[in-house]
Amino acid sequence: MGLFSWWRREQKPLLVTAEANPRGFKWIAGRRIANESAYALPNDLTESERLNLQHYVIRFAMRGNYVVPFWRMNTRPKDILDVACGSGRWGAEMAYEFPEANVVGIDIVAPDATSPSVTLGRPTAPDNYVLLQGDVRQGLPFPDNSFDFVHMRFLVVAIAAADWPALVREVVRVTRPGGWIELVDTVMRDAVGSPEHQQFFAWFSKMTATRGYDVAAGEHIAERLHAAGLANIKSYRLDVPIGDWGGRIGTLMRLDVEAAVTGIIAPLTQYKMATLEEAQAVQRGMSEAMKTYRGSIQPFYVAYGQKPR
Ligand SMILES: C[S@@+](CC[C@H](N)C(=O)[O-])C[C@H]1O[C@@H](n2cnc3c(N)ncnc32)[C@H](O)[C@@H]1O
Repeated sequence: MGLFSWWRREQKPLLVTAEANPRGFKWIAGRRIANESAYALPNDLTESERLNLQHYVIRFAMRGNYVVPFWRMNTRPKDILDVACGSGRWGAEMAYEFPEANVVGIDIVAPDATSPSVTLGRPTAPDNYVLLQGDVRQGLPFPDNSFDFVHMRFLVVAIAAADWPALVREVVRVTRPGGWIELVDTVMRDAVGSPEHQQFFAWFSKMTATRGYDVAAGEHIAERLHAAGLANIKSYRLDVPIGDWGGRIGTLMRLDVEAAVTGIIAPLTQYKMATLEEAQAVQRGMSEAMKTYRGSIQPFYVAYGQKPR
């Protein structure tokens, strides 16, 4: 039986546990980091919770989980793929919204199918949702033309700039002619300007340079879809306030940035950019600054396009 045939919705969801992830982990500054992953953040429960918080922020900003206007085309996707699915929550919500569809999530550290991010408070995961472990830099383990909607979100500090074109080509390969691809991403630059933010981003840009990330990946997603030959491309930018001055969404965004900074402390110390004490002192200063600074904005970018028929 081929890989593609067993994830059809008649099958029960594949149960993936942390132990099933073959690459193993190391613990740095109390956080779990996946071996051999180029991702700049930990892969642990705390990071999953941050990803869920970020999911609520972007879903609020986008007024939903996607912007491809399926409703206007009077069509519904039947096979949906979430590339680098993180906590698995986006795919779980899509599996409930499209019960007739097969939804697949793939990540270098696949989420546990029994986690609340996947079950969404019900006894089990949706039975039309499957989670796979895989390194997307090695290609996607699906035949050509398998999906009619492929979603890929927040790979800004996961994929090196040099690897982006091949990854987008791979996403196009597994999308059916006439199918849709939606990319959502951001930039990781100092948006606040406090002395502590400047110090943190000096360390961060040194570290990301050694890994070859495109820290402005969000600004480039639309051009990547153009370069990959998609049609009917639409793109836009959503500005989300960072801080309580921006209302409830600003508070959530501030908490997301704080949690991301806390997570990045582990790789910063791993890369000897700072000692744990130095990094934690800077992190505390950043948290304080974000409570009082007004006007800081986190930009998010959304781009979608259609594979030509
Ligand atoms: C910022 S998170 C975004 C998760 C999810 N897309 C979301 O929006 O909530 C980045 C994800 O990329 C995954 N990742 C990093 N490198 C990867 C790789 N080479 N192959 C597959 N997944 C990868 C990480 O494990 C992490 O779950």
